[in-house]
Amino acid sequence: MDTARDHPEPWQPESWQSRIATQIPAYGDAARLRAVLQDLARLPPLVTSWEIEALKEQIAAAQQGRAFVLQGGDCAETFDDCTSDSIVQKLKILLQMSVVIIAGLKRPVVRVGRMAGQYAKPRSEDRESRDGQELPSYRGDLVNRSPFTPADREPDPTLMLRGYERAALTLNFVRSLIDGGFADLHHPENWDLAWVSHSPLADRYRDVVRKVADGLDFFESLTGSKIHEARRVDFFASHEGLNLYYEQAQARFLKHRSRWYDLTTHYPWIGARTCTPDSAHVEFFRGVANPIGIKIGPGTTPAALRALLARLNPRNEPGRLTLIHRLGSTRIEEKLPEFIETVRQAGSLVLWMCDPMHGNTEVTQSGLKTRRFDRILAELEAATRIHAAQGTHLGGVHLELTGEHVTECVGGARGLTENDLHSAYRTQVDPRLNYEQAMEIAMRIADRGSHGA
Ligand code: PEP
Ligand code: CO
Repeated sequence: MDTARDHPEPWQPESWQSRIATQIPAYGDAARLRAVLQDLARLPPLVTSWEIEALKEQIAAAQQGRAFVLQGGDCAETFDDCTSDSIVQKLKILLQMSVVIIAGLKRPVVRVGRMAGQYAKPRSEDRESRDGQELPSYRGDLVNRSPFTPADREPDPTLMLRGYERAALTLNFVRSLIDGGFADLHHPENWDLAWVSHSPLADRYRDVVRKVADGLDFFESLTGSKIHEARRVDFFASHEGLNLYYEQAQARFLKHRSRWYDLTTHYPWIGARTCTPDSAHVEFFRGVANPIGIKIGPGTTPAALRALLARLNPRNEPGRLTLIHRLGSTRIEEKLPEFIETVRQAGSLVLWMCDPMHGNTEVTQSGLKTRRFDRILAELEAATRIHAAQGTHLGGVHLELTGEHVTECVGGARGLTENDLHSAYRTQVDPRLNYEQAMEIAMRIADRGSHGA
């Protein structure tokens, strides 16, 4: 049942297992792993091919500059954090940011959460030592547990079932919120905008907010209906496709489309550490028809990028491939033009998306991981400028954020300092933008639209 039409080399959901597989848990109990994969494969999918194809069309529109993709959420979701409040806050910030960006760029925004499956993390070391004891590293709740005991750190296949269930609960709640009365969130009068006055750009930001409010009022008086009754909000899920056992179990061949799909999520991405042309991860994702993202960083060579384009999108299908560049504010000027040239020479259709988070991580003197708001913004602005100068365009942004008032990234309108970080530092992994910092990024993206940059 291979889709030989799409890729001449044979492909099967498990063909990745014969490739160089890094970041994949070493499960000790093969029989238990097999049983879990069988269970997972029997369960109904989390998403459908109709949704996936609708998203692919929207990404294709963004490739042509007719839409903008906003992708964001936690670095890692945890099972504990699968709560009503956490899901509401994330959805709320993404929805509010999208309204601001729509008003500024005057383009539809495709909303994508790092949600409902962002449970596995790549680690630079396979093992961790503490006080002379060495154990497997914690790889996210989908794989093992974070307490430093042999039992907790043993990769446990059952956690894939628990993760699948949490993902289903998350998606179920997201879908209900979106179908129900979540939509008063469109209106700036319901937003928490006290921070705006702290910014040197307060007047510009107030202007953006006024435009949003006026636009909504105009629409509602013209149509006589509330915005949320008039237009259904789409929302898509994404996660790093890292634990390939989990993804493999939900790879389905759909007869009506004659293609394989990964039905754990709409829009998986391959992380920077696993994205080499001959990797197991590239092998798996070349075989499924979902739109996929690939993270490209300072270490990605033109030859590797060319090989990735050819392997992952041999037919140059619109909407299929998103290049998520994560270079850091100091490397983007040098590397992005090189990527753009490589893609141009290959004649490939891609969506250019900027991840201004992962190239700008630093460790404070007190040992906390943080990111500077100024650097995040500088990378985003450089991305916009470089794409415009090269005749391509930035079609999306990939952010780590939360709707809560955490203190993990420094800077922003309120000028959070390193000393403030301790007050609400909650991330298990990478530092996230908080509610205000995330809204400020949205305002800056919107402001760029109204100033024609
Ligand atoms: C991530 O998105 O959380 C991540 C690990 O990023 P990258 O693969 O770009 O390092
Ligand atoms: Co991260």
